[in-house]
Amino acid sequence: MPFPSDATPDTEVFRLIDEELQRQVTGLQLIASENFTSPAVMKAVGSVLTNKYAEGYPGKRYYGGNMVVDEIEALAIQRVKALFGADHANVQPHSGANANMCAYQAIIEPGDTVLGLSLDHGGHLTHGSPVNASGKLYRFVAYKVTPGDERIDMDQVRDLALEHRPKLIVAGTTAYTRRIDPEPFKAIADEVGALFLFDAAHIAGLIAGGQHPNPVPYADIVTFTTHKTLRGPRGGCILAKAEHAAAVDKAVFPGWQGGPLEHVIAGKAVAFFEAAQPSFKQYAAQIVANAAALAEALVQEGFRLVSGGTDNHMMVVDLRPFDADLTGKEAQAVLDLAGITLNKNSIPDDPRSPFVTSGVRIGTPAVTTQGMGQAEMAQVAALIVRVLRERTDQAAIAAARAEVATLCARFPAYG
Ligand SMILES: Cc1ncc(COP(=O)(O)O)c(C=O)c1O
Repeated sequence: MPFPSDATPDTEVFRLIDEELQRQVTGLQLIASENFTSPAVMKAVGSVLTNKYAEGYPGKRYYGGNMVVDEIEALAIQRVKALFGADHANVQPHSGANANMCAYQAIIEPGDTVLGLSLDHGGHLTHGSPVNASGKLYRFVAYKVTPGDERIDMDQVRDLALEHRPKLIVAGTTAYTRRIDPEPFKAIADEVGALFLFDAAHIAGLIAGGQHPNPVPYADIVTFTTHKTLRGPRGGCILAKAEHAAAVDKAVFPGWQGGPLEHVIAGKAVAFFEAAQPSFKQYAAQIVANAAALAEALVQEGFRLVSGGTDNHMMVVDLRPFDADLTGKEAQAVLDLAGITLNKNSIPDDPRSPFVTSGVRIGTPAVTTQGMGQAEMAQVAALIVRVLRERTDQAAIAAARAEVATLCARFPAYG
């Protein structure tokens, strides 16, 4: 690059990126919302497309020079519509949170009533938390999981819908381990004259891979993130019925965002291509099989699983039956020392604060991408149990750390 020719190369950032690569590939990545995206996706995201301004949409841009970018964005749109069978797609949302705010702006007005799953029962901040813009702009009413089976209480959804007559019903979750059937939500929305939005952030890859029901035929709008089970770059996406297409596009730009991240959109296009391959179906099935195996192994060790098990890529583990003194916060910290990365998570009606919690959330998308199977899940469970049991013994933690690295070396994420 001729100018500036005397620039000192930045070694600090690249040293840190290398450190992060080592952390990712030598440890067990069990955060349910993370994955190892492919080198092809990363190549697209690291491309010259980052240089281009492209406010607007393919064929309708505010700047010149968008002939190539138009083709890329059109390809992403075409691929994601085909993948999920959608009428319309907007691939520009910078994140899942943006996608949700744009979707709300497209179809409801500030002050309108909306039903969404309570954050502490597995919903997302953008489903009406008072600390989030969604909760400030709209009047969210929260439904919950039942105290008995800890599954979404569809009777309560219907009762609340009849009582509050919402403009919109939101389904979709952040920390919920059961299959969500879109059909009963749609039936309730129709009964009360509400619109229906399905936030498929976590399970988009499981839907694309045929493991979970596709909400697209039922929902007015489906939002999702591209970086979780779908294994694409960090970003969001909105699918909509034809009648909401113009409003969705207007809400994304100029409503909430400026220039789209065309390098990320190219990465999304690559991920949609990858998710349409037959092997992605096997991948999605293995994610679910691995989660079931890991869940079963943890139950054998005395943990309780919220809702008793899992149908998807994650489990929410109640630590109290294993050790009443062990908090999610402490478990996360000590497992981090052993190279096992997961997150503390509230369990429904958790007596501890969201910063401490009585549970952890564990997911299998990333380890499945590495090629681990059910046999390795038993090993992972055993390592988790050992570290938590011997959490005050530094030598035991160090020994577990070494075993984690040996296991991960057998399943290199990259290379
Ligand atoms: C259900 C759900 N919706 C939206 C989001 C927000 O996605 P992002 O972090 O990309 O803004 C998440 C992220 O965890 C999520 O789980």
